[in-house]
Amino acid sequence: MAIRSFSERTLTAEVLRRVRRAPDARLRQVMASLVRHLHRFVREVRPTPEEWFQGIRFLTDTGHWCDDRRQEFILLSDTLGVSMLVDCINHGGGGAATESTLLGPFYVDGAPRLPMGSNIIRPGTPGAPCEVSGTIRNARGRPVAGARIDVWEAQGDGLYDVQKPGGLNARARFRSGPDGRYAFRCVRPVSYPVPHDGPVGKMLRATGRLPMRPGHLHFRIAAPGCETLVTHLFVRGDPYLDSDAVFGVKRSLIVEFRRNRNGEYAARYDFVLRTAAKKTSRKKP
Ligand code: BEZ
Ligand code: FE
Repeated sequence: MAIRSFSERTLTAEVLRRVRRAPDARLRQVMASLVRHLHRFVREVRPTPEEWFQGIRFLTDTGHWCDDRRQEFILLSDTLGVSMLVDCINHGGGGAATESTLLGPFYVDGAPRLPMGSNIIRPGTPGAPCEVSGTIRNARGRPVAGARIDVWEAQGDGLYDVQKPGGLNARARFRSGPDGRYAFRCVRPVSYPVPHDGPVGKMLRATGRLPMRPGHLHFRIAAPGCETLVTHLFVRGDPYLDSDAVFGVKRSLIVEFRRNRNGEYAARYDFVLRTAAKKTSRKKP
């Protein structure tokens, strides 16, 4: 049998021919697209072997920074806008439902379950006291009782509990009341940098970008018959609203955090959940 050798012109077609043998149709589609785009990228950039190895070293470092407290690959996806692109593709439906945004790397499944109205902040935590309240409704405008509401935020020093010793703090899980209402106490969100002491931070600095995120509170709201909503509420007036390092800001999620007469902050937001899709159908690109 004649041995073939491949050139810049013929190599891509051969790689594609081989990945098209994958028995799973979706994997076949994903792999073929990956090979086409990756080869196009290399043809466009024309890296030297040293440059290509530098790229491989960057991805290797990114993996080495990952453990059960730090997810550098999520951070890479977030800072390259890929997490928000996936979010836009999957939840970009418009309409009256509350807009979603990215989950981020600091969600913890299994936060303390607290009764409605509780303070999610342990005594001695830095930050300005704040109350957040509102309702959860479904797409028909009816209150959603018993929705599972996860909230989490950075503390007044700009750090999440999982970024420092001391255990879980500034996060909780609630259930909405029979009237769909929710309320809890927290600290007024502050702007903070995404973790930038690793390879992603190096990439941000090398490309002249800031690591800052505008102040926000994270929400994950789940209820039977509704699509799970992953979103944030952002603080109106924050100086980083227009330059979020991870592209997560949506205008409809910016909220006034007003100062009360007693010097504490308060914000209100009414969430609207989408009806859950019966079956996921995949649209062709
Ligand atoms: C966050 O909001 O917690 C976050 C999101 C993306 C990257 C880093 C942090
Ligand atoms: Fe955050």
